[in-house]
Amino acid sequence: MTQDESRDKQVSLLFSEDEIAKRVTALAREIAASEPSRLLVVIVLKGGFVFGADLIRALALEGVQLEIEFISLASYGSQLETSGEVQVRRDIEVAVSGRDVLIVDDVLDSGLTLKFARDLMQSRGAGRASIATMIDKPEGRRTEIEADYVGFTCPNYFVVGYGMDAAHAWRELPYVGVLGPTSSEAG
Ligand code: IMP
Ligand code: MG
Repeated sequence: MTQDESRDKQVSLLFSEDEIAKRVTALAREIAASEPSRLLVVIVLKGGFVFGADLIRALALEGVQLEIEFISLASYGSQLETSGEVQVRRDIEVAVSGRDVLIVDDVLDSGLTLKFARDLMQSRGAGRASIATMIDKPEGRRTEIEADYVGFTCPNYFVVGYGMDAAHAWRELPYVGVLGPTSSEAG
């Protein structure tokens, strides 16, 4: 699917801005209650950047001090199917040894990406390495992994918005939607 084909589809609302904001606040409270030590938030690019941006501010309101790093991992390209192989395209720039790390991503689907990220942080000597994902799609799982903090669990839909894309389109939507039929097909 090209970006133009993706833009030609309709997006139907799944989780609204309000619902998302409430979940982010609730997750920040849970994370704060775990009393993380020297917390390093590792945001997985590109999809995790919107959730990450909201979550760090919600954490600040809960009194949690943290540092932010970014990692870019690739397993998808612009396809809707994962290849099974995960590569580091851009690494974090600090040592994680002895620190609690919170890995933040948009979707936990097959689990390959986040399992890779967590294993990487643990192999580098992180303290607790936890995972926060906006969307959990348990039906897609191909490896044994669960997130510690989940925004919403949903069936095997292809979701877009709030950082999530389909062929590089729709990341900018402030809500989470499901990609539907092309506009010309729908009434
Ligand atoms: P994984 O299959 O758990 O490794 O997920 C890999 C990546 O695929 C996620 O971080 C997302 O960026 C992307 N992805 C998986 N499902 C969706 C979806 O429904 N919409 C948008 N991106 C997705
Ligand atoms: Mg991603």
